[in-house]
Amino acid sequence: MAVDLAPFAGRHCLVTGGLGFIGSNPVLALEAACASVTVVDSLVPRHGGNRRNIAGSAAEVVVADIADASAVARAAASAQYVFNLAGQVSHIDSMEDPIGDLDLNARSQLGFLELLRRVNPEAVVVFGSTRQIYGRPQYIPVDEGHPVNPVDVNGISKYAAEQFHILYANVHELRASALRLTNVYGPRQRLLGDRQGFLPVFLRLALEDQPITVYGTGEQARDCIHVDDVVDALAAAALSPDAPGEVFNLGHESLSLRRIAELVVDAVGSGSVEEIPWPPERARIDIGTYRGDYSKAKQVLGWEPRIDFPAGIASTIEYYRPRLAWYL
Ligand SMILES: NC(=O)c1ccc[n+]([C@@H]2O[C@H](COP(=O)([O-])OP(=O)(O)OC[C@H]3O[C@@H](n4cnc5c(N)ncnc54)[C@H](O)[C@@H]3O)[C@@H](O)[C@H]2O)c1
Repeated sequence: MAVDLAPFAGRHCLVTGGLGFIGSNPVLALEAACASVTVVDSLVPRHGGNRRNIAGSAAEVVVADIADASAVARAAASAQYVFNLAGQVSHIDSMEDPIGDLDLNARSQLGFLELLRRVNPEAVVVFGSTRQIYGRPQYIPVDEGHPVNPVDVNGISKYAAEQFHILYANVHELRASALRLTNVYGPRQRLLGDRQGFLPVFLRLALEDQPITVYGTGEQARDCIHVDDVVDALAAAALSPDAPGEVFNLGHESLSLRRIAELVVDAVGSGSVEEIPWPPERARIDIGTYRGDYSKAKQVLGWEPRIDFPAGIASTIEYYRPRLAWYL
């Protein structure tokens, strides 16, 4: 069952990265639950920020970096709940522009936390972290106690940001927690380019009736999670008195990349699957097979994923078909 968003009615929620893929989904869900919502998003070029993601919404939009105190302080001061989903997601970009990744993912996050500490230390904050921090799994399923061993700069910057949140919870009593997300899919994700991960690439190629290429035999598995399940987890973490100071794995279904590609092709009704040799720059930072253990989120937050991949991908395709031009 979906998490009940009624407790957010009449509350002020701040969603950072709220014009992007993941962030825009809680913006709409919270508004539908009668919350007042402010979005802070700097519309980083070539990333997922897209004003159409919240078309028709009454949310206030502040176009600024989250660390820009003069632009963000007013909204930060009055927010009871902060869903912190601003970030740069590309692993490859983080290796080509490591300082840019550090700035967006770590430096800005620390500036934002300092702002919250100053103007709103009572805020409840949920941060969108990533399973990328674990690197190549040493055992499966990966629980929160798994060693942190990132294979790229993105994993290190995101880990720093996550741990800043936990530090601010432990030392400054900010009510902050972090969700380690796996591969998220669903409506409102940029489909152009390959910065946002493999799922949007697979979707775009199938929708354009082109071959989807998987590296090697495509047997490495990924744990895919629908964005509505992420919205549930964000809400559950925000509402739980036991969440502050904690990190939680999310996850759902581990499927091989080849199987994911086949399911996408089946659901779209066009495209095909082809194997190609590993490009060296990808092989160097690939994490192999990943499956997450989300039993802590289940136990502490009462959260469980509820959308299976075939159903989730079918509704995702229905969203994109009439709106494809917005995302290309
Ligand atoms: N998409 C996934 O599968 C996935 C997996 C794990 C973690 N995450 C994390 O979830 C968050 C959201 O990812 P997404 O897929 O929605 O990406 P996205 O690119 O669609 O959205 C991110 C948004 O954040 C904004 N942004 C980035 N840095 C900012 C800053 N410093 N100040 C203000 N705005 C900023 C961008 O303009 C963009 O609109 C990221 O932090 C990412 O690391 C995503």
